[in-house]
Amino acid sequence: PDFLKKPDEYPVTGEHNGHKVRAEGKQRLDAEGKPYPTKLGIHGTIVAVDFDCCVADGVCHDVCPVNVFEWLLNPGKSGSGNDLWPLPQDLHDKYRTDKADPIRENDCIFCMACETSCPVSAIKINPP
Ligand code: SF4
Ligand code: F3S
Ligand code: ZN
Repeated sequence: PDFLKKPDEYPVTGEHNGHKVRAEGKQRLDAEGKPYPTKLGIHGTIVAVDFDCCVADGVCHDVCPVNVFEWLLNPGKSGSGNDLWPLPQDLHDKYRTDKADPIRENDCIFCMACETSCPVSAIKINPP
């Protein structure tokens, strides 16, 4: 959640749909000691979504009053009825699930509904 205070651990590694992407510098291990996939990174700054955490629940889309989110793998679509679930195997191997892309993060009004609703705490709101 405090990735903005740790630019060395979470450097900006790219841009996507008009927002910054930050990768995680350190590799995490899962409960069995296997490397946990952290390569997808954090999309967005004001509305930051940890793509390695997001499991495509979709409640963030449903509660957002200003329609900030769209599905990464289903562009132009939002809402918890995600057509691409379950994912085809090749996409699943790469992404595990679809991801909530904060394509309109600049429209955010900081209501915090998405951050408090996400069942896996994948979202951090950072008012500028
Ligand atoms: Fe939308 Fe509110 Fe989340 Fe901002 S804080 S992205 S306005 S649900
Ligand atoms: Fe993902 Fe959480 Fe939204 S799991 S789709 S960020 S509610
Ligand atoms: Zn993105």
